[in-house]
Amino acid sequence: MAFQKVASLDDLWSGEMTAVSVEGQYILLVNIDDMVHAYADACPHMRTRLSQGSLQGRILTCATHQWQFDALTGSGINPVTACLEEFSVRIENGDILVELVAACSSDDKPVKWCER
Ligand code: FES
Repeated sequence: MAFQKVASLDDLWSGEMTAVSVEGQYILLVNIDDMVHAYADACPHMRTRLSQGSLQGRILTCATHQWQFDALTGSGINPVTACLEEFSVRIENGDILVELVAACSSDDKPVKWCER
């Protein structure tokens, strides 16, 4: 699948996160130290929108039950076995492009567990 523009770098400063909706998919964009990452905007626990949570440094906390994730890697911090669904990101001419195919989908499972 091709990469699509979802936002401009001007819309997402370092240390910020924002949610976008593209082709019916909710995507969370996170800028950590000027590196943009894209994740499904759905907590792997019970699918709450992660964009309603908080970002402190690189720690992303879900608003519902406070599961925490490393926004730089998508790995779970608490619990360590959960992880985020990540999308590939490219930056071109100041635009944020996302490939709208997650590395894997957890739609059929309430919890996405990392392979460790
Ligand atoms: S829905 Fe996110 S921690 Fe429960």
